[in-house]
Amino acid sequence: MKLETKNLTKNYIVPKSGEVNVLKGIDLLINSGEKVALTGPSGAGKSTLIHILGLMDKPTSGKVLIDDKDITSFTPTKLAKMRKENIGFVFQFHYLLADFTVMENILMPVWNERKTKKEYALNMLETMGLTDRANHMPNELSGGEQQRVALARALINNPKILFADEPTGNLDRKTGEKIETLMFEMCNKLKTTLLVVTHSRELANLADRQIKIIDGKIC
Ligand SMILES: Nc1ncnc2c1ncn2[C@@H]1O[C@H](COP(=O)(O)OP(=O)(O)OP(=O)(O)O)[C@@H](O)[C@H]1O
Ligand SMILES: [Mg+2]
Repeated sequence: MKLETKNLTKNYIVPKSGEVNVLKGIDLLINSGEKVALTGPSGAGKSTLIHILGLMDKPTSGKVLIDDKDITSFTPTKLAKMRKENIGFVFQFHYLLADFTVMENILMPVWNERKTKKEYALNMLETMGLTDRANHMPNELSGGEQQRVALARALINNPKILFADEPTGNLDRKTGEKIETLMFEMCNKLKTTLLVVTHSRELANLADRQIKIIDGKIC
């Protein structure tokens, strides 16, 4: 899927200190299947941008186009459908549900089709070297294992676009690099467009292209 923004801005109103201009006119084009690393200093607006692109937040002004469709005009129902069918997300923290097994967590986004999707989930667990962890609870996993499960959950629906916001930021370097490589391999295989926020040069170097954002602008 192609992802485009036109003059995107985001302001937050903060009580007492007034308005904060976080994104200051972002023009972006990410082609279908492209893997892009988003870098930049802390506070530059990376998470804000990726949340808007992942349809979890709204811009103050400007446009977000997915496959040339302007989603800023979508109704909440249409947005939810677009998100469910096309978008996967991995965060810095795994957000696995503590009371559900690894397998159940992976199947959560496709719960109504869990019977037919189970084999696919098992295949993913195998790719990730986690076959023998399917029935574990999240707190019985290492940080790297939890993050791989979060990646499997993000990919269970075969999203057209995967967003990852510092997906390995909480892990040691070696574990992080392994998971990053796995994420790129899986996106290659599934032809998934990838936008990954990272502070890691290694991860950024795996991408087709790097975009740097400083103080709310692309440079
Ligand atoms: N809900 C909010 N209300 C007010 N200001 C906010 C809000 N969310 C973020 N900000 C501000 O917007 C700026 C950008 O935040 P953002 O989380 O996008 O940065 P980032 O580039 O992801 O940084 P990091 O690398 O530390 O994760 C920051 O200065 C932050 O304080
Ligand atoms: Mg951030």
